[in-house]
Amino acid sequence: MIQALNYIGFSSPRYEEWLTFGPEVLGLQLADRGEDGTVRLRADDAAHRLSIHPGDEHALEYIGWGVHTEEDLAALTQRLTDHGTKVHEGTPEEIADRAVAGMVWFDDPFGIRHELSWGQVRLPGTFHPGRAMSGFITGEQGLGHGVLVVPDIEQADDFFSGVLGFRLSDRIIDPPLNARFYHCNGRHHSLAVAEMPGMAGFQHLMLETRSLDDVGIAYDLCEERGVPIVLTMGRHTNDLTTSFYLYSPAGFHIEYGTGGVTVDDDNWEPATYPKTKIWGHRGTRHRDELPFAILHPVNEGL
Ligand SMILES: [Fe+2]
Repeated sequence: MIQALNYIGFSSPRYEEWLTFGPEVLGLQLADRGEDGTVRLRADDAAHRLSIHPGDEHALEYIGWGVHTEEDLAALTQRLTDHGTKVHEGTPEEIADRAVAGMVWFDDPFGIRHELSWGQVRLPGTFHPGRAMSGFITGEQGLGHGVLVVPDIEQADDFFSGVLGFRLSDRIIDPPLNARFYHCNGRHHSLAVAEMPGMAGFQHLMLETRSLDDVGIAYDLCEERGVPIVLTMGRHTNDLTTSFYLYSPAGFHIEYGTGGVTVDDDNWEPATYPKTKIWGHRGTRHRDELPFAILHPVNEGL
């Protein structure tokens, strides 16, 4: 019933760096700032899709999933409640901040806040990328994908697949990596989870451009500006995305790529891959030196 990753929000003491990093490196467009200085960024005609709020430390604030209608929102809320998840109504201030018609939120079993909304505000014909580029693959495929760190992958599967209805695309098992990839629209995955015992958090956000040149130009810009590249250019085994990974000024990684496959549920068969990459994606010294994700410890049995 979830249709797409509609928006995502972080907080960071370095939020103001996104005024230049967002448009000039990533190609996102600045939207109106929040009253508290929040930097809001656009990837298409949606009002905004990525928000970086002021904060004392890097944190994931919320992951925003879209549903089609108010009725779908009520039905999914009921389903969560039936499975013992407490669902909260979004406040008028939160709903205005997210630029949606209605919103509820809940914490997943690992303490990560998810929001469900309908009626995202769109402004057709108004998106202009922050630098010369061909734009992003969004629309019905949503903003991109998010990868969570979870302490128990089976418990995560029970919740995200069993309760929320995400559909398994495939798995990558390359010890110590144990990851599952889920779709909710044609994008190969809108959500992935990777297991790390005792920990939960956010690892990376993927943005998909319309051309390989957009990715190569971003790579050059990162090198020129000293933005830490954590994985070199490479191509994934499962979604066939050609991408590189950078460490963003808000403490989470960004996969910046192009050419991901789409999933058709009628003839899709989930595979298991023993490797993440066909070629490239080599870890740099930044990969070793910088935090792998925004993480918090999770008590056993939570
Ligand atoms: Fe990714």
